[in-house]
Amino acid sequence: MISLFAIICAIAPAALALTYRAADISSLLVVEEAGVVYSDNGNILPFEDILTQNGMNTARIRVWTAGQYDLDYGLALAKRVKAAGMTLHIDLHYSDTWADPGHQAIPSGWPTNLTGLTSEIYSYTQNIVQSFAAQGTPIDILQVGNEINNGLLWPVGEISVNGFAPVSQLLHSAIQGALSVGSPTILIHIANGWDWAGVEYFFGGVFMPGALSLSEVDIMGLSFYPFYGTNATLSNLQSSLTNLVNEFGKEVVIAETDWPVTCPNVTLSEPTIPVSAIGQEVWTSDIRDVLLSLPGSLGQGIYYWEPGWIGNAALGSSCPDNLLVSPSGDARPSIAIFETDM
Ligand SMILES: *[C@@H]1O[C@H](CO)[C@@H](O)[C@H](O)[C@H]1NC(C)=O
Ligand SMILES: *[C@@H]1O[C@H](CO)[C@@H](O)[C@H](O)[C@H]1NC(C)=O
Ligand SMILES: *[C@@H]1O[C@H](CO)[C@@H](O)[C@H](O)[C@H]1NC(C)=O
Repeated sequence: MISLFAIICAIAPAALALTYRAADISSLLVVEEAGVVYSDNGNILPFEDILTQNGMNTARIRVWTAGQYDLDYGLALAKRVKAAGMTLHIDLHYSDTWADPGHQAIPSGWPTNLTGLTSEIYSYTQNIVQSFAAQGTPIDILQVGNEINNGLLWPVGEISVNGFAPVSQLLHSAIQGALSVGSPTILIHIANGWDWAGVEYFFGGVFMPGALSLSEVDIMGLSFYPFYGTNATLSNLQSSLTNLVNEFGKEVVIAETDWPVTCPNVTLSEPTIPVSAIGQEVWTSDIRDVLLSLPGSLGQGIYYWEPGWIGNAALGSSCPDNLLVSPSGDARPSIAIFETDM
């Protein structure tokens, strides 16, 4: 007997689903340690179960070379992610602390010249891939570097100082280290996905003979935030990603994004979208529409950045709350941004 539900599912536009309906949940163990308990409609559950029950299928975890988000931390969280049946995305910062367009410090104890770093990044990345596999949680997506618009491992790999050759060599070496012991999907990540000039500058420069080649990269990941400048519009994103896909033919994901529920003092890049849980759903589904419009079905995923980071709800912005949960840990309606219609 065919139920009405089955009929509705059969006619639903399955082709419109994103492959990666994702969240970066790196802070989860830290937040739990601070005593936070998560719930969905009042039912207390592990956060990863709340996410998967609301349509998410992929989790991103940052890994630092030392400090709070070190390898042991990432390994522990990866067990939770895999036990929940999620795709595991590991985000290597290649630094002892945050790496972003303004910070890419060489880890303490690492070499400080290109020859030494090329060898170090190979063996470090190789060890990372081996370590996750050895505990039975192999990395599905490996991100080499975080928001590396101006390179990584500064100043050696700093594009504005030394051009593209060092960063191209370093990324090639990192990827070859990974592929020597595993077969993760390789993702390269930069910030400001809406900014075609910046995106084209990076991807137009980073590939070169004898170093990083386009064939070593599977996915191009971009950050896209509404509160760091009013040019981060959906229409700029649309044209930037369309150009990117047309020029390089690679899969594209929005590897970081979020939207506020409170933001009194910032002009957001899409001021007509409400500052609320509803707005979080609108922003995300508008990004989904951009991705699904890209040529060759190459728009593949959206990652909500740190939806449950209670205690740091501003998430690095001037908007005080960007979470998909309330301050007490109960899921907002926007937790379902990745329900089946995504
Ligand atoms: C580069 O760094 C390595 C490792 O720290 C060191 O052994 C080597 O001597 C350095 N090479 C040069 C040319 O400074
Ligand atoms: C925003 O875009 C406009 C129009 O393209 C440009 O003139 C302006 O310089 C941009 N602002 C920033 C901060 O990028
Ligand atoms: C917004 O600006 C007002 C006036 O400067 C200030 O009193 C308030 O604390 C600000 N709110 C936030 C959340 O930054």
